[in-house]
Amino acid sequence: MKVVCLPGDGIGAEVTAAAQDVLAVLAPDLELEDHLFGGAAILATGTPCPDETRDACLAADAVLLGAVGLPQFDAADVRPEQGLIALRKALDVYANLRPSRQGPVDLMVVRELVGGLYYGPKGTRDDGTVFDTLEYHPSQVERIAHRAFAFARSRRRRVTSVDKANVLETSRMWRQVVTEVAAQYPDVELEHVLVDAAAMQLVTAPERFDVILTENTFGDILSDEASAVTGGLGLAASASLGDEGPGIFEPVHGSAPDIAGRGVANPAAMLRSAALMLEHGLGRPDEARRLDAAVDRALERAPTPDLDGTATTTDAVAAVLAELDR
Ligand code: NAD
Ligand code: IPM
Ligand code: MN
Repeated sequence: MKVVCLPGDGIGAEVTAAAQDVLAVLAPDLELEDHLFGGAAILATGTPCPDETRDACLAADAVLLGAVGLPQFDAADVRPEQGLIALRKALDVYANLRPSRQGPVDLMVVRELVGGLYYGPKGTRDDGTVFDTLEYHPSQVERIAHRAFAFARSRRRRVTSVDKANVLETSRMWRQVVTEVAAQYPDVELEHVLVDAAAMQLVTAPERFDVILTENTFGDILSDEASAVTGGLGLAASASLGDEGPGIFEPVHGSAPDIAGRGVANPAAMLRSAALMLEHGLGRPDEARRLDAAVDRALERAPTPDLDGTATTTDAVAAVLAELDR
């Protein structure tokens, strides 16, 4: 089995190296192959997702991605983030699963990943107006809704669909399509919540959520918020899945320029993403469970500074390896 690794930028490269060290012990038969991506790829080739990288991803069994983004490109026309947006589309990974778990909270954001504002027509008109367009086709809503209800069946059978149906046409269509799909899952409970109220409830009562189904931009924001109420971005993993072909497995966090290069990034989000890869991308659930359990225990022994500890990334990896060895 071949895994294409895209370390990317900043702490993306640091946590990818950490995951590679752990996978080398946990699943030594996996072939791990690095490719250029993000700001690193712009610097080397002029483009954030070179054709060679995209083709390698398409031919792989799974893609493990660190993070992209470098401050030096913040005002540039060609940006690292464009590579990520293009790669998600090229692999058609429309279902982004972002689980958050801590204490009584156990929820999963199911974020539509290849539509909406990120991909609609955008540009500048003659009068200087700048626009991004929020568009969805019902078929895009239908397929992500099916994924959310299917996942709810393996959880607590409750879907909260989040939209802005009091204002947006796309949300009114979203609500209608989700309601139609729900009829095929009579054993799963569906509620609709407006996004502003959902953001509030995520802070005041996060334990009430099971599966949160939502569109691309709302899901981006709500998943950072969900991570914040369950231990922070250093812990938050994600899986981006299509109907066939390789998935992309990446932490929810970015390249963290504020701590990059200091060796203190929490590798847990990346290691949990690797566990999602083993489970959902490679069909190896036993190793996924072993890895998740080892990460949970290692976090207690060797917390990094984001968890108010003093462990370095290397210390945390050593703790995970020690747990795997037990
Ligand atoms: P960020 O997620 O990189 O960082 C936000 C905060 O969380 C920072 O204080 C950072 O130090 C902390 N943090 C994040 N991950 C951590 C970890 N593993 N361990 C410890 N602390 C961690 O978000 P940002 O600062 O808004 O964005 C920085 C760059 O990353 C931007 O260029 C952005 O576009 C990019 N980004 C990329 C991705 C991705 O590649 N998937 C995701 C989000 C942001
Ligand atoms: C994420 C990131 C990306 C997104 C950016 C870097 C394009 O914030 O994966 O959450 O908005 O999807
Ligand atoms: Mn984000």
